[in-house]
Amino acid sequence: MRNAVCPGSFDPVTNGHLDVFERASAMYDTVTIAVLTNSSKSALFTIEERINFITDAVSAWNNIKVVSFQGLLVDFCKQNDISIIVKGLRAVSDFDYELQMAQMNYRLAKVETSFIATNPEFGYLSSSLIKEISKHGGDVTGLVPDKVLSALKAKSASGGTK
Ligand code: PNS
Repeated sequence: MRNAVCPGSFDPVTNGHLDVFERASAMYDTVTIAVLTNSSKSALFTIEERINFITDAVSAWNNIKVVSFQGLLVDFCKQNDISIIVKGLRAVSDFDYELQMAQMNYRLAKVETSFIATNPEFGYLSSSLIKEISKHGGDVTGLVPDKVLSALKAKSASGGTK
């Protein structure tokens, strides 16, 4: 069995993330989406909300599951019999940080990282930009799953994204 993990904060998940999940699900026997619980970044959505958005969006792919994690990613991999970390690479700007993490994870526990070149359609997309645009009342239709879109609109209407 080739078990892979797609780790991240996913605050919130975007259609760019979903593209990577779908492509990873075609490449590996199982794909675990591991949502970091207590990132140093302050999250707009709770861990339960972030997991629900993803679970809803990946329901068509039956080899994908969604869980939360904390602590070191390589420990999570060991505990869950996962040998490969899958990340999307959008641009050169992602590369330095991703390479550093990939090399460190390999050094720590011989866990490999595999990069998927992001679909150019989503190359400019990030959770931070989505939050920024939504905060100012901009339209992010088509860039996030429908449930995320509704939740962002609700937060924006209540001043919660400010
Ligand atoms: O979506 P993000 O916030 O860019 O994801 C970063 C993430 C979750 C992949 C990274 O911060 C991580 O792996 N955190 C867990 C702690 C850890 O293992 N740190 C050492 C990485 S070499």
